[in-house]
Amino acid sequence: MFHLPITSLKAQFGDIDIYLFDQLLKGRIQKGMKLLDAGCGYGRNIQYLMQAEIKVYGVDASTEAIDRVQQLAKELAPTLPARNFVQADLEQLPFADEEFDVVLCSAVLHFARSEFHFRSMVQELWRVLKPGGMLFCRFSTTIGLEGKLQQLEGRFYRMSHGPVWFLADEALILDLEQQLGAERLEPLKTVLVEQERSMTTWVVRK
Ligand SMILES: C[S@@+](CC[C@H](N)C(=O)[O-])C[C@H]1O[C@@H](n2cnc3c(N)ncnc32)[C@H](O)[C@@H]1O
Repeated sequence: MFHLPITSLKAQFGDIDIYLFDQLLKGRIQKGMKLLDAGCGYGRNIQYLMQAEIKVYGVDASTEAIDRVQQLAKELAPTLPARNFVQADLEQLPFADEEFDVVLCSAVLHFARSEFHFRSMVQELWRVLKPGGMLFCRFSTTIGLEGKLQQLEGRFYRMSHGPVWFLADEALILDLEQQLGAERLEPLKTVLVEQERSMTTWVVRK
């Protein structure tokens, strides 16, 4: 019988994405791996990973986010160098080809400024991933909400909470997979939030 207090889960995992947690349960992220969180924000998805002997790196366009994540690393994983966390755009990642075992990108790609920008960001995530490595992305799409969203131009939509987002669809994801030669590790999983937005998790192997 386990007697672990449920409250320790929050202390350990923070606000980790549930589908990323699923990848942990499946054993796809292991001790010693080199992992990049691209668009890491304040680090909710790497809080646990930093403490699990994973070589965590992070980039974000916001210097404030990078300051916060460096502080988090200092507190939780003092052996992780602060230089692992840098301000950068996903379009131009400051890393060599094939550096990472795992690349995460959660809630970033729908901020793309154009389809070209979206594709360039995905291409960069792919470039820095090792052959055999896992790319885990979560982004807003039109899946399950076809015809119900306010379309502006091309793949840009006015979201019900105000902003204009770039929304991919299944055809674009399939096209990217073919272009990259990616192997799907999971079926696409999409959560519909109040019939207002759709968040899709895309997990592939290089
Ligand atoms: C909604 S937050 C998500 C943060 C984190 N991935 C998470 O899931 O909590 C989006 C983050 O992406 C960053 N971002 C947006 N566009 C970016 C880009 N082109 N390059 C790098 N970071 C970007 C923002 O600065 C912000 O911190």
